[in-house]
Amino acid sequence: MSTQVATRLIDGKAIASRLKEEVGQEVSELIAKGIQPGLAVVLVGDNSASQVYVRNKTRSSTDLGIHSEQVNLPPETQTPELLKQIGKLNRADHIDGILVQLPLPHHIDADKILRSIIPVKDVDGFHPTNVGRLCIGKPVLVPCTPMGILEILRRENVPMSGQRAVIIGRSNIVGKPMALLLLQEHCTVTVCHSRSQDLPRICREADVLISAVGKAGLVTRDFVKPGATVVDVGMNSIQTLGELEHLYGQDTKRRESFDKKGYCLTGDVNPSQVIGIAGALTPVPGGVGPMTIAHLMKNTVLACRRRRIDSKRSRV
Ligand code: GUN
Repeated sequence: MSTQVATRLIDGKAIASRLKEEVGQEVSELIAKGIQPGLAVVLVGDNSASQVYVRNKTRSSTDLGIHSEQVNLPPETQTPELLKQIGKLNRADHIDGILVQLPLPHHIDADKILRSIIPVKDVDGFHPTNVGRLCIGKPVLVPCTPMGILEILRRENVPMSGQRAVIIGRSNIVGKPMALLLLQEHCTVTVCHSRSQDLPRICREADVLISAVGKAGLVTRDFVKPGATVVDVGMNSIQTLGELEHLYGQDTKRRESFDKKGYCLTGDVNPSQVIGIAGALTPVPGGVGPMTIAHLMKNTVLACRRRRIDSKRSRV
């Protein structure tokens, strides 16, 4: 029989709040010098999840004193029209960060769009120049979700140097940049995906296990080494009582919320199985999500400083 571990639930909301306070302080200092950082968020179409994400990004930036613009375009927008809008934002001096919310409608050439954002304003860190810089260890603007996760691990004093890190998921947004960041922290990194054989065995070797696939309840007790830190990046909606009980047992708070809303947001981890084995776990919601937005704010300020202060200083 395995021994029970007291699992610490990591409060991503509290960490994000501290990070946002620090960023807000930086924004005030910049405003005192006559510089207000600016962020433009572009949304194409009417995907309801994207609308919520974009609203939260715009609201957070306004709260911190960042100038914020939202560009809403109809679902039938074509690639040339979107390129024209991005061109305008590239040239606007008061805009430091440009973010195009993904996924884009299928008829739009997403690669072309991401390449059209000038790298100094690419606060998502998705432009090939920024991806390349991250790859060679000279990062400038790093994707917000992996950077938010790294910030959680650092602030929670999770050992990384020499440790085994396993990432489930090889997306350009999370899995791949996460692997590069953890390599820089001197972890031994393994990236797993849908074709990986014997996933639980590989994951059980992890001191730090990160799941970013979007499959509710994927990470069960067989995936977790006792004492490991488990980071849940999944965001899934469950709609049946059976699934709810499988993942949360008789958790009354979750049940009340499910009864009220008719669904429940959950990650990739089955908490009822992993709590008691993992040393620490990021919950969903309230774990990684708030850190992604906080890091977008940080990237916007960083982009502003580099473009409006550092680049001018290095020219004299
Ligand atoms: N869609 C899901 N995650 C992200 C993100 O980090 N950035 C953008 N632009 N779109 C997303």
